[in-house]
Amino acid sequence: MEKIQIKDSKQHVGETVKIGAWVANKRSSGKIAFLQLRDGSAFFQGVVVKSEVEEEVFLLAKNLNQESSVWVTGTIQEDARSKFGYEIHVSSIELIGESHDYPITPKEHGTEFLMDNRHLWLRSSKQHAVMQVRNEIIRATYEFYNKEGFIKIDPPILTGTAAENTTDLFSTKYFDRDAYLTQSGQLYMEAGAMAFGKVFSFGPTFRAEKSKTRRHLIEFWMIEPEMAFMDQDESLEVQEKYVAYLVQSVLDNCSQSLDVLERDKTLLENYTKLPYPRVSYDEAITLLQDNGFDVKWGADFGSPEETFIARQFDRPVFILNYPKAIKPFYMKPHPDRPEIVLCADMIAPEGYGEIVGGSEREDHYDLLLEEIKKFGLTVADYEWYLDLRRYGSVPHSGFGLGLERTVTWIAGTEHIREAIPFPRLLNRIYP
Ligand code: 4AD
Ligand code: MG
Repeated sequence: MEKIQIKDSKQHVGETVKIGAWVANKRSSGKIAFLQLRDGSAFFQGVVVKSEVEEEVFLLAKNLNQESSVWVTGTIQEDARSKFGYEIHVSSIELIGESHDYPITPKEHGTEFLMDNRHLWLRSSKQHAVMQVRNEIIRATYEFYNKEGFIKIDPPILTGTAAENTTDLFSTKYFDRDAYLTQSGQLYMEAGAMAFGKVFSFGPTFRAEKSKTRRHLIEFWMIEPEMAFMDQDESLEVQEKYVAYLVQSVLDNCSQSLDVLERDKTLLENYTKLPYPRVSYDEAITLLQDNGFDVKWGADFGSPEETFIARQFDRPVFILNYPKAIKPFYMKPHPDRPEIVLCADMIAPEGYGEIVGGSEREDHYDLLLEEIKKFGLTVADYEWYLDLRRYGSVPHSGFGLGLERTVTWIAGTEHIREAIPFPRLLNRIYP
């Protein structure tokens, strides 16, 4: 008898198969028991009819507790009434592991309780759907960059220098000296671009930010492409093509998960249409001021400002050329206006905020050295980075996409904590 996964039921209609599963839920009457089964790949229904199975099988089915694990044998059948479309007509059940008083019941639970039980909460159908979307975004990312001729380079996680700023670094001892957990692999990716042309990274990133919002994690995953011989405008084209590709891939391959999440697919379809609008920082300031925001040129945007700007469009929008003073040292100034930089943030619709940040990099040795000093950084720590401008410097651009922000937006979940299996938040490192 073949052992199958629930997600492959379609290929086994009419066959007798064996499935290892957990009992997510159950209801029964005197004559029939319906088991909501999950095996990690999907959820479907097991039907146990008293008159068709041995007495102890029906008794076992009736008394199974939530999250008990079982071997189920039966015949796969079509089930037009369920969204999944298939069910198993059970002939026998074997108990593997009992479960008593499973803490997460079908009733409503508070967020803190669910977060304390994150290791179990992951088993629920909504969390299953979010993780399917996350997995698809990961898969499509590798596919996209491979198709586009990038190679994956892995920057270090332990670093000796700050990549973005010096305020939200996690420090640790590196034997007898200080080191930091990476904030961004970008500087190393620039070395990668000079060695391999078009590169991307995909790894964990750490920010000791004291932010407690629905968009901030302490530990998150970032995809950072870096491209030699590319200016900022060309980089924007890669960014929008990539993000549209992610949305399309989720639409194509996670339809059922989107249904579980009750995500509006027509909204998502809009997000695959290119190009994405481009608004300059200057225009954004005027737009905000005209609409009653008390914001002056030079200020950074918070979530109300970003959300307002995003509302003007039906798809993600780029905000271009922020003031130099609010951006990191490595961004290249605009050739005609040194007070702004060649950069952009991509703002997701529906209030999800910034999902991509990127820029053209300062490629001139003297100017970069000046910025490193102005920012109060130790030049000796950046000698290797300056080398990239000493030996055949070229124009280059890159960006970083936050995986969890993107998952939150595409899945349409409310808070970023559900977009990563075990979120690290300001007040939480358990479980
Ligand atoms: O805008 P950020 O800070 O840019 C960089 O780190 C650049 N070095 C990237 C590059 O050019 N290679 O971060 C990039 C993205 C943000 O747009 C956001 O999506 C995500 O990373 N991000 C966070 N996601 C979750 N929690 C946080 N605390 C985040 N901080 C940034
Ligand atoms: Mg940013």
